[in-house]
Amino acid sequence: MEERLQSCYAEIAALFEELYPSDGGTALNYFLDMLRRSYAQRKEALRAQDEKRLLDPDWYRSNGLLGMMLYVDAFAGSLRGVRDKLAYLEECGVNYLHLMPLLKTVKDRSDGGYAVADFRQVQPELGTMEELEALADECRARGICLCLDFVINHTSEDHPWARAARAGDPVCRSRYFFFDDREIPDQYEKSLPQVFPTTAPGNFTYLPDCGQTVMTFFYPYQWDLNYRNPMVLNDMTENLLFLANRGMDVLRLDAIPYIWKELGTDCRNRPEVHKLARLLNLACYVVCPGVLLLGEVVMEPEKVAPYFGTPEKPECQILYNVTTMCTTWHTLATRDVGLLRRQVDQLGRLPGNALFQNYLRCHDDIGWGLDYPWLGSRGYGEAAHKKYLNDWFTGVWPGSWSRGELYNDDPRLQDARLCGTTASLVGMESEDPEIRRQAIRCDEMLHAWMLTQSGIPVLYSGDEIGQFNDYSYHEDPDKRQDSRYLHRGRFDWDLAALRHDPSTLQGELFQALRRMERRRAELALFRSDAEMTAFDTGSDRVLGIRRTRDGKALTALFNFSEIPQSVENPAPGGTDALNGQKYDAPRLDLPGYGFAWILTEERSE
Ligand code: GLC
Repeated sequence: MEERLQSCYAEIAALFEELYPSDGGTALNYFLDMLRRSYAQRKEALRAQDEKRLLDPDWYRSNGLLGMMLYVDAFAGSLRGVRDKLAYLEECGVNYLHLMPLLKTVKDRSDGGYAVADFRQVQPELGTMEELEALADECRARGICLCLDFVINHTSEDHPWARAARAGDPVCRSRYFFFDDREIPDQYEKSLPQVFPTTAPGNFTYLPDCGQTVMTFFYPYQWDLNYRNPMVLNDMTENLLFLANRGMDVLRLDAIPYIWKELGTDCRNRPEVHKLARLLNLACYVVCPGVLLLGEVVMEPEKVAPYFGTPEKPECQILYNVTTMCTTWHTLATRDVGLLRRQVDQLGRLPGNALFQNYLRCHDDIGWGLDYPWLGSRGYGEAAHKKYLNDWFTGVWPGSWSRGELYNDDPRLQDARLCGTTASLVGMESEDPEIRRQAIRCDEMLHAWMLTQSGIPVLYSGDEIGQFNDYSYHEDPDKRQDSRYLHRGRFDWDLAALRHDPSTLQGELFQALRRMERRRAELALFRSDAEMTAFDTGSDRVLGIRRTRDGKALTALFNFSEIPQSVENPAPGGTDALNGQKYDAPRLDLPGYGFAWILTEERSE
């Protein structure tokens, strides 16, 4: 550890100097001692794993990882429950498990667990820290990586720092943004957008009991931390390392773009954020070099990639591929693959260290962060297009089979977002059996597309059996304001029991996904180091992708429309990677929402 620390000491010191010029070394020394302390507390099994991973720095970049994200309570009631269900996850092929926030929070003020009241305690209904550690041990023994959220931008108003700050403690107040009156908050508001315009309007909250106003970008009970105070960085880094030492393999840096505030700006993606992210990366490198950082950067396309840092100075090893995710849904609604094609080529130009987590759905809404300048050149106006997408996916548009709900719909902003499970969004709730069949094909095609992308594919729990929306949140007073609960329903084990029966929707989907996932894990062409490009298939509705590696190629076609398409065969003489069919004909017919994975070499890998 000392060697690693020495090797990056100069960079750590320089970053402290840049962020905290008046510190005089106190906070820096604290940081260094804290790293040593955290390393001393790291158990032997984890240190051994770190050493192994240091020798194989690409350990997480293979085609062998398949992820799933889930809520502990919705999936199995508790951490023990999850442990009992590991066999199911293994049957799903999952070896990377993201557990949604499970640290201590207050029930009716939890934001789904993203308002943390204690970074070192598990929410009692879900279990204990010992049980989390035991689960991590068990996962490690089975070769499953574990990912946990680290909510870095804010704490719950019930966190001890927040409580003390509220009671007037000046040291704790300096960990947040406290104001005597609205003067500065009003200045901030001039340049600040809103995260939750309808569910939590404004970026500041007045606390009548102490006559103060506190900064709250998200919900009023989520108080933004002030990283201009170096002790916030020090203590939060120590919390992060504490969780790493419990056996987490990946820590998800929640809402990372927001952690540095600058009056007169939108307080997102400030240069200082990247310095802080780099410091967190260095802290992990020193203490737990086998642990990875996953950045949650839900921003416009050009703002995302900088969070990888550079190959020499990495920040997050993994980022959510939010751009491809939301463009995929746009493509489905428009049946026009133009933007997706363009983005695949843009992603192909990123530096070699970039690695995305690919997904169709997650616990959050789909925000329409598309490339509007380009869409504008194709005749799509931003507000009108967002409205079309929302109308299509909420079933308002004539002929739509989709069953989503809007999220944060403030008519003045014309920026509503969307909620719903994959199955419900593609029409599986329809009464019409034809539409339901079409929806299963569409769901499979979307998953095939997700699995084709470079990076780590992550399923949203329930999607493997086509779980529908959960409308019961409308009846729950703690949840009904937040439509994201539409797709956070209880996992339905009765439906999961049908997964072996291919005559059921669940069985058909589950088995189709497993076939594709297995094939992906077998073929080196799916490794992240394969080259991936998009090509023109001659049809606006059919996305064409080529992955090449070691002289072999996988040509993939995805029909993003319900109408059958015929395209020129892009891989004559090729073989279907899933069913062995030969593609000799000059043209290739794809059914509505059909897809193909075509190998142009023997399956010799
Ligand atoms: C992230 C989470 C989201 C949460 C927010 C505030 O965006 O994904 O669920 O509401 O951060 O913590």
